[in-house]
Amino acid sequence: MSTREPEILVFCCSYCAAAAAAAAGAGRLRYPAGTRILSASCTGRIEMEHVLEAFEKGADGVLVVGCLDGGCHFVDGNQRARRRLDRVRSILDEIGLGGDRLRMVNLSDSMAAAFAGHMREFTETTRALGPNPLKPARKESAGES
Ligand code: FES
Repeated sequence: MSTREPEILVFCCSYCAAAAAAAAGAGRLRYPAGTRILSASCTGRIEMEHVLEAFEKGADGVLVVGCLDGGCHFVDGNQRARRRLDRVRSILDEIGLGGDRLRMVNLSDSMAAAFAGHMREFTETTRALGPNPLKPARKESAGES
């Protein structure tokens, strides 16, 4: 198992997920430092290309956080996202990268502790999978000279 901190890209919808993330930060709940959070108006707006590009650029894992089922502020955006991400997961399995590097979770705005917990657990899952083999070589060698 690698001791290097996995690079995790987290897409949060700007409603419940962003509120849960903000509450986790305000409550000083601990989660790994290797996570980078991006905001999308709704998880339904996250296209397959966005996720694939994240892996192409070297993310070790991608976590998508949206509102609870029935709670999406754009009616069914989170359900469309889940179907889309299932397809991406299949692609990741087919190309040998591993679909487990991609996960979607659904939270309400008051679930700060769950947000931090998912961040910690997904980071450990990703660490166990090892570094993204697509990670650009320049990134790995940066700072070694
Ligand atoms: Fe949160 Fe759609 S607004 S998932």
